[in-house]
Amino acid sequence: MGNFIEEINRRRTFAIISHPDAGKTTLTEKLLLFGGAIHIAGAVKSNKIKKTATSDWMEIEKQRGISVATSVMGFEYEQYKINILDTPGHQDFAEDTYRTLTAVDSVIIVVDVAKGVEMQTRKLMEVCRMRKTPVIIFVNKLDREGRDPFDILDELESELKIAVRPLSWPINIGQRFKGVYNIYEKNLNLYTPSKQVVTESVEFRDIDNPELESYIGQSDAEKLRADLELINGVYPEFDKAEYLKGNLAPVFFGSALNNFGVKELLDCFVEIAPSPKPVNALEREVRPEEEKFTGFVFKIHANMDPNHRSCIAFVKICSGKFVRNENYKHVRSGKMMRFSSPTAFMAQKKSVVDEAYPGDIVGLPDTGNFKIGDTLTQGEELHFKGLPSFSPEMFKYIENNDPMKTKQLNKGIDQLMDEGVAQSFISQYNNRRIIGTVGQLQFEVIQYRLLHEYGAQCKWEPISLYKACWIECDDEGVLDNFKKRKHQYMAKDREGRDVFMADSSYVLQMAQTDFPEIKFHFTSEF
Ligand code: G4P
Repeated sequence: MGNFIEEINRRRTFAIISHPDAGKTTLTEKLLLFGGAIHIAGAVKSNKIKKTATSDWMEIEKQRGISVATSVMGFEYEQYKINILDTPGHQDFAEDTYRTLTAVDSVIIVVDVAKGVEMQTRKLMEVCRMRKTPVIIFVNKLDREGRDPFDILDELESELKIAVRPLSWPINIGQRFKGVYNIYEKNLNLYTPSKQVVTESVEFRDIDNPELESYIGQSDAEKLRADLELINGVYPEFDKAEYLKGNLAPVFFGSALNNFGVKELLDCFVEIAPSPKPVNALEREVRPEEEKFTGFVFKIHANMDPNHRSCIAFVKICSGKFVRNENYKHVRSGKMMRFSSPTAFMAQKKSVVDEAYPGDIVGLPDTGNFKIGDTLTQGEELHFKGLPSFSPEMFKYIENNDPMKTKQLNKGIDQLMDEGVAQSFISQYNNRRIIGTVGQLQFEVIQYRLLHEYGAQCKWEPISLYKACWIECDDEGVLDNFKKRKHQYMAKDREGRDVFMADSSYVLQMAQTDFPEIKFHFTSEF
């Protein structure tokens, strides 16, 4: 038992999130280097995905296929077992990222020092805030010209709506970048712009020590002392409890490309980041140290090869020990299932695992039994919460283009929705099916996959919609009245819940003003 608890406590399961190009891939790679999981830079993956940009989605899908290998990257670092969950770089697959965030215990956000907080970062932070996920921020690319670090801190605070506390501080920037002072460990790290070598650091407990000048010169030494004084005056001491509650984000500065400031980040991360936390199910709270195994599917990766309609379901283990070849209950179907070849990725190698612990992710080969959000247990009827659908941003009517293949089309749509490719709604006004996505690409992906995997042809017809929101009201009468009055805007989601589909922000605002008793939700879980 002691061993089991230790296994849980030493796990750190997290995701790195950023706006494309801020340096997520580079940072991931450096972390893997520290863990000895890879030995050369450039080994993680080509990040052509986002570079081929919006048009060539086949290429993107191919890359996504490859990226199964990097879906979960496990490695050992000191006494810790670290699991990094990868998130797609392309913003049209943001929904994948949202769901991945439901399976992590903490997050590292990468921000480009020249660009500050960008759109994608802001959106992802909203999801973290909703779930109270602890975040650490890494301000990247200090080797380039960028903004004043105090400015960046202000922007992080106001744009990400979270209190911040710098734990390291840059000494100059761009061409004059000399290194960072590690506030947390009180040492000075001098910058050597080499891409592979882990930098040495000098212990520097007393910043007033005149030796500082000999390392970084007089003017930078004075500036550093003044900056640190200001920091200590403005920002309260770092409070780990506040970080764990998701209220406070420690901030580090560095250059991922040059492997600078990354070790400081990693060392602090393993120390302060949470081990697997209790997870809420509809029925009760499930604690990781419980003896019986439970887990949920947060991601399904389909094989694009039409000859093998197989996929991998990624399961996050919430409690107990997962054991290969044991019988587990698939709660939604009530069926018992056995998995003879669950896989995990350790140090970049995919292998069959015999057992896995809370915080770990196992990949289960599947032929269409699983759906996002499904729960596996040792018999208990449990339904994990926290896998909300997010309000889609683009909508189209989907129509059948081949009347002989209606059955295939419906089956295909159902399975693709189960996989979480997009969301489907039925308009209560005209009974037509509406598909909602977060990116244009999904429409193309759906059309292609319906044809190639299900032999069904669909066509898209435009519909002008602004937002879909789930509605709720304690007063049945008011709700009924609303639905009658707004009949033309009403739809049902796949679970039969009421969704209000506003065609403009004006219509949404009017509805909110006219019906103050009704709650409008932008995620399906509330
Ligand atoms: P992403 O996954 O967040 O999208 O970003 P990625 O790591 O791919 O980094 C985006 C670009 O920024 C890459 O350059 C990468 O080399 C560069 N970069 C990352 N960290 C740093 C840093 O600390 N300093 C500097 N100067 N650049 C950094 P690229 O030219 O787009 O790609 P590549 O050809 O260099 O791989």
